[in-house]
Amino acid sequence: MMDLSTTYLGFRLPHPLVAGASPLSADFDMCRRLEDAGAAAIVLPSLFEEQITAEAAGTEHHMLAHEESHAEAMSYFPLADEYTMGPQRYLEHVRRVSDALTVPVIGSLNGTSPEGWLDYARLIQDAGADALELNFYHVATDPAESGADVELRLLDVVRAVEDQLTIPVAVKLSPFFSSFANLASQLDDAGAAGLVIFNRFYQPDIDPDALDAVPRLHLSDSSELLLRLRWLAILSGRVRASLAATGGVHTAVDAIKAVMSGAHAVQIVAALLTHGPMHLAKVRREMSHWLEEREYQSLEQAQGSMSLLRCPDPAAFERGNYMKILQTWKAR
Ligand SMILES: Cc1cc2nc3c(=O)[nH]c(=O)nc-3n(C[C@H](O)[C@H](O)[C@H](O)COP(=O)(O)O)c2cc1C
Repeated sequence: MMDLSTTYLGFRLPHPLVAGASPLSADFDMCRRLEDAGAAAIVLPSLFEEQITAEAAGTEHHMLAHEESHAEAMSYFPLADEYTMGPQRYLEHVRRVSDALTVPVIGSLNGTSPEGWLDYARLIQDAGADALELNFYHVATDPAESGADVELRLLDVVRAVEDQLTIPVAVKLSPFFSSFANLASQLDDAGAAGLVIFNRFYQPDIDPDALDAVPRLHLSDSSELLLRLRWLAILSGRVRASLAATGGVHTAVDAIKAVMSGAHAVQIVAALLTHGPMHLAKVRREMSHWLEEREYQSLEQAQGSMSLLRCPDPAAFERGNYMKILQTWKAR
């Protein structure tokens, strides 16, 4: 049996495959099925700043009805209603899942302002979560706010949460920062135990007849992994925080590439929504086979082997390759 073990956020895990935040983990029975399928850890969906402030203002509303969800994925979606639980139901869900499961349960908070909703970080910890993921999903639309201001706000949120908690705090980020490596290093200094890269940004389409913005949820495919591989490779060995990949991991080879680039954990969502929880077991099995066939002794032997620090062609991740890539195009 190939040794796939890894350490993520201080947890020793039998393998790196984690069920990422999604409607699947909003459902208690589905959390059990994910554990039975072998998930090394489970990230619960985010409790949103807006849900907390709406409840406080007595105007709770449903933030996230996924009417546009992929048809083939529908059978694995819990009811939209379960996915829009308010703060009290969320804490109850954390409690139930943490009590019932033996794998680490990671709560998730989404917000961007350093406000009162941060109290929920401690409440999620008190409800039994083993770690917390801060999902910083922010679109900087204010022309008066500089990039430095946005980063400062993020760092303030992370420090405020980190100060309150004893459990590890991971930060889930978008790639849209002007100097991502610098931000990662500042988050490292702020005490982030993990960096989860990258959040996907959902782009609203426009209906030109109705003159309306149309939210659309497209699930990822493996091509989205490439952006993650580059940044994992750049950060690997250069931050203390553990690294998790999220976005575009569908197959065993995807997961191995993420680990070789430097990921300690690999989160999967779209593939589980499409194929169901048992896909985790399949990916795990196929990772073992892949490594055995190539005579690896363990997954850790491969971990970070394609990082910028260790890769035989570091220029591939940097600017140097830009010119080469453009020159590879051939007219048909
Ligand atoms: C329907 C759906 C709901 C999601 N909800 C959350 C969420 O509540 N919090 C969060 O941090 N990420 C959420 N995500 C993002 C996923 O955790 C993951 O980062 C993203 O889907 C990329 O991974 P994938 O390519 O494996 O799907 C959601 C994704 C989907 C498809």
